[in-house]
Amino acid sequence: MPTDQYHEPPGDLSADVRTFARVAASLQEEAEAIGWYEQRLSLERDPEARAIMEEAQEEEFKHFAMALEFLSRRKPKWRAVLQAVLFKPGDIVEHGEMGEEAEKKS
Ligand SMILES: [Fe+2]
Repeated sequence: MPTDQYHEPPGDLSADVRTFARVAASLQEEAEAIGWYEQRLSLERDPEARAIMEEAQEEEFKHFAMALEFLSRRKPKWRAVLQAVLFKPGDIVEHGEMGEEAEKKS
């Protein structure tokens, strides 16, 4: 079984850090899958195949969201940045700068 989500010897890491690393790897995989489905959907013309791919991509949205929520509950500074940046209209870069400030305060 691959353990490439670890960059340090797994035996030296706490159970919490190993769990965090596994969920972080899942988050990365879910984002990859969303991108792969986006590419497939841009090319696929068969309506039935498209429906399956759309359904699958929507599942990946949910998986990504759950993994992100899990991780952000364990990293308050990350959560502070997410709260400053996500789901707001306007300038994303400006929100990122506000997130950096929020991170410092948390
Ligand atoms: Fe998934």
